[in-house]
Amino acid sequence: MQVPTSAKSAYAAQLRKRLLGSEDIASELRELLPADLQGWGHDHDAFELMFSLLDIKVFLEVGTWKGMTSIRVAKEMIKRGIEGAIFCVDTWLGGEEHFGYRDMRRLAGYPRLYDQFLSNCVHEGVAPLIVPVPTTSHIGSVVLAREGIKADVIYVDASHEYADVLADLNDYFPLLKEGGLFIGDDYHASWPGVIRAAREFADKNDLRIYIWATKYFLQPKAVPPLAGHFLDVTDRPGVFYNGEAGYVG
Ligand SMILES: C[S@@+](CC[C@H](N)C(=O)[O-])C[C@H]1O[C@@H](n2cnc3c(N)ncnc32)[C@H](O)[C@@H]1O
Repeated sequence: MQVPTSAKSAYAAQLRKRLLGSEDIASELRELLPADLQGWGHDHDAFELMFSLLDIKVFLEVGTWKGMTSIRVAKEMIKRGIEGAIFCVDTWLGGEEHFGYRDMRRLAGYPRLYDQFLSNCVHEGVAPLIVPVPTTSHIGSVVLAREGIKADVIYVDASHEYADVLADLNDYFPLLKEGGLFIGDDYHASWPGVIRAAREFADKNDLRIYIWATKYFLQPKAVPPLAGHFLDVTDRPGVFYNGEAGYVG
């Protein structure tokens, strides 16, 4: 199967070969599924703004689902002529909230999220930049650390259970390049475990915690503060974003 894109990245191809046994995994799909471009939280302006804040060659997403955030970031890299890599860590089995969820293909009850994700990457012309890491977030962090991968931006959006989020923060923060940006999703009243884990992790590691709508951003206190859209909630534990009500608390 031809991948309809002019995008290329020798770095991503080499990592696919090392980790997955083949540079061209997209051509090995048993069936190219029709595009299904559904996801959550990918329409946030931070994913474009971050390119003006940082030199981004490696983006790491923990919890990728059908790929919408990584596809958006990959398109931005392609537009800017960056031959980077997007690491996508996911079991592609869904979270606890996806049992019974309708908007997802299954075969004999088993999720087909990985096939859908990779098909979407092909349809959107970004597959050459994508390096899937199809495993649990913890094992993914061990593999990436073993490979010496450090990312310019890490985006954590896998399980939203308190213990899992805390584990993801502990596992992935060390994989951030110095001066990089660490982003998490769903700092929102609907996900109290996310807020609790993010705040605990920030407190323990002397980090500032900023929010911009439902995204949170962690940065060492020593680096210059994030300005503009970013609201510093390091010392404001009750403040979060609540949709139309704006910032509350
Ligand atoms: C909310 S979705 C991610 C949405 C995605 N960021 C987007 O842009 O649409 C959460 C994803 O995390 C994955 N996930 C949940 N727990 C995980 C774990 N322990 N390890 C790896 N992936 C996990 C699920 O399979 C699911 O695809």
